[in-house]
Amino acid sequence: MLAKIFLELTEFPWFRRIAWKPIYNRLAKNFPFDDWVFMNYGFEPDEQVARPELSEADEPDRYPLQLYHFLVTQTDIEGKTMLEIGSGRGGGASYIARYLKPTSITGMDIADNAVAFANKRHKSPNLGYVTGNAEQIPFEDGRFDVVINVESSHAYGSVANFFAEVKRVLRPGGYFLITDMRDPKNLATFEQTLLGSGLSLVAKKVISENVVQAIALEDDMKRARIRRQIPARYVKFFEEFGGVKGSQIDEDLRSGKLIYFWYVLQKK
Ligand SMILES: C[S@@+](CC[C@H](N)C(=O)[O-])C[C@H]1O[C@@H](n2cnc3c(N)ncnc32)[C@H](O)[C@@H]1O
Repeated sequence: MLAKIFLELTEFPWFRRIAWKPIYNRLAKNFPFDDWVFMNYGFEPDEQVARPELSEADEPDRYPLQLYHFLVTQTDIEGKTMLEIGSGRGGGASYIARYLKPTSITGMDIADNAVAFANKRHKSPNLGYVTGNAEQIPFEDGRFDVVINVESSHAYGSVANFFAEVKRVLRPGGYFLITDMRDPKNLATFEQTLLGSGLSLVAKKVISENVVQAIALEDDMKRARIRRQIPARYVKFFEEFGGVKGSQIDEDLRSGKLIYFWYVLQKK
């Protein structure tokens, strides 16, 4: 019942602006586990596509990490200056910094505890994390070659403000890569707003099936991790929030009540 009320309230921009930051701050403060560095539902590529090779230490994070890998390899990021907005516990930016060789990548998140966690947990010479709001990005115009955004935009008060800010901080010719999910009834408006920002569409794809696959493949590991780390009274909540097999998110992605997508755009 409470979960349903919460979800209905997230339809309102004012509620999204006040609700998400304390949740992610609390999660980072109360559960500062070094082996919990991603907060997305993951991605498994189609059968014929090669999966990235990972070190043994990164292998447990394969599915959420693959969401980053297959999004950012839509464009060439080697030698580029990158910004991730909504970087969470930092695993995605860290993977990119270590494996895909941008000149630098800065992770930015509104939850200062998550930023502090990420700065402590992930070390790489081309990597850092800062606090900031997607609707008011704390960087100067034209600063970045590539901006990425993974499963975070649903939490913003105004995606129009966010897209305007992304366009502002991108250099001409720079790329914006975004992946997230929406109720299909809101998807057309989302796309109109995205294209209305003046960024040009390069590619788009519905990836719900790839995410559902990842949820299934990661299920045993995810459940085991939750049971190992989380006090028994919170396990059910974390299974829902983390999207185990059979959770509402999993059901909604399977039935099409939610659509998971990615877009590649360029500032011409
Ligand atoms: C579901 S998590 C995804 C984190 C990360 N991208 C990943 O895949 O592991 C969403 C993140 O968006 C952040 N977020 C929410 N609203 C934000 C805003 N207005 N500006 C920047 N970050 C925001 C949250 O604090 C949270 O860390």
